[in-house]
Amino acid sequence: MTGPTITRRALCAGLAAAAVARPAFASPASELTARKASVQIAPEGYPATEVWSYDGTIPGSLIRARQGARLQRRLVNALDVPTSVHWHGIRIDNAMDGVAGLTQDPVAPGAVFDYDFALPDAGTYWYHAHTNSMEQVARGLSGPLIVDEPEAPDVDRDEILMLDDWLLDPETGGFIEPIGHPMMMSHGGRTGNLVGVNGRYDFALTSRRHDRLRLRLINAANARIFVLRLQGMVGWTVALDGMPLDTPEALAGEIILAPAQRIDLIVDVIAEEGEPAGLLMQQDDDGWVALADMTISGSSARAARPAPKALPPNPRTDLPELAGARQLEMAMEGGAMAGMESAVFEGQRLGLRELASRGQFWALAGQAGRSDTPFASLSRGETVRLRLTNETVFPHAMHLHGMHFREIRADGSLGPLRDTILSLPQVPLEIAFASDNPGKWLFHCHMLAHAASGMTTWIEVA
Ligand code: C2O
Ligand code: CU
Repeated sequence: MTGPTITRRALCAGLAAAAVARPAFASPASELTARKASVQIAPEGYPATEVWSYDGTIPGSLIRARQGARLQRRLVNALDVPTSVHWHGIRIDNAMDGVAGLTQDPVAPGAVFDYDFALPDAGTYWYHAHTNSMEQVARGLSGPLIVDEPEAPDVDRDEILMLDDWLLDPETGGFIEPIGHPMMMSHGGRTGNLVGVNGRYDFALTSRRHDRLRLRLINAANARIFVLRLQGMVGWTVALDGMPLDTPEALAGEIILAPAQRIDLIVDVIAEEGEPAGLLMQQDDDGWVALADMTISGSSARAARPAPKALPPNPRTDLPELAGARQLEMAMEGGAMAGMESAVFEGQRLGLRELASRGQFWALAGQAGRSDTPFASLSRGETVRLRLTNETVFPHAMHLHGMHFREIRADGSLGPLRDTILSLPQVPLEIAFASDNPGKWLFHCHMLAHAASGMTTWIEVA
């Protein structure tokens, strides 16, 4: 179910631009306020959108701190629904992970919650609501979280590009309701009819020829898998999901960024003044379209530069000891066109119809939704191999809280550290991680409609 497409250029002559009142609202730096706001997401000429935001903007306030520092933020809940904040990708104290009903109680309207945790790793992260995430993230509750290395890499500029999409009614500017339509839940999830960067459909950068930039791409969309390409730039991948690669990898071909994934690029601008440059995205019917334009003016004096060095490694990123690892298996089932027979939901085995009537369409290891007992109870320090079999006809962005993992590739080698990995239909996938962070950790699909309708489980590390 998708709405009518909203074009980059406003064509609806009849719709006067709504005056957007932005109330003066000074949120102290130590606070993060979840509140409603009216924001012009759609192009001028369409009405503004009533969003749920952090500090009144889309995306929410940039939170930036140094590696090794503590992050302290008081969440002020000025919404009229309970909420909580998850710090996606941070190896965090379990009590600060923000998962309502598992690691904390939801924060009631009018109440506050003090988040206070260490930042062991540098990198590109993000934060988002983790109470009824499908709805709260779709309505705007997410923002970038950057942890800076003690010494920044040698680049001319460091740019954050938070990619997102919104499913809007072009007549009213409001979100198309309901947020979680059963059709979206049982298919690919909620995909927007308007795509943008940093809350803008026309986000653009300017730079000089031969500039070297660090681009931090964050996929904050509920369900969209971005397929991207650079134009007028050459580049290297230097980090995935916050974690530096051992060696920068020259970009060749497309960049695939699943929901919740991040990629840090170092790029050199090769386009000349007047030549097209920017970030392109693949769109089913239209081929490649601009997601972010880059205007080139002038030229940097530093023309030829050697390939970038690797970012400094984060602590505790050694390879998991696979010999003697505990082997776990998890079937991913359900969704449209896959014929799941039954699953356990709230302690009862239910058939497809009963599951659907309770809003459940998916299962992980035979279980729909979070159970009272964890999928696995692990001891601290043990290595775990988890084999995922995707028996659905959809891709899923599987995310583990609290710990990063590596893919065990078909040839037995280990992939880079990640916190979210794309599982493709019928393609076997195996990950390994050292279970070294005690607590209760979610493992779920980051297509948030899937997570809300069955694809959520959890593990416990003693
Ligand atoms: Cu990005 Cu469970 O979340
Ligand atoms: Cu999914």
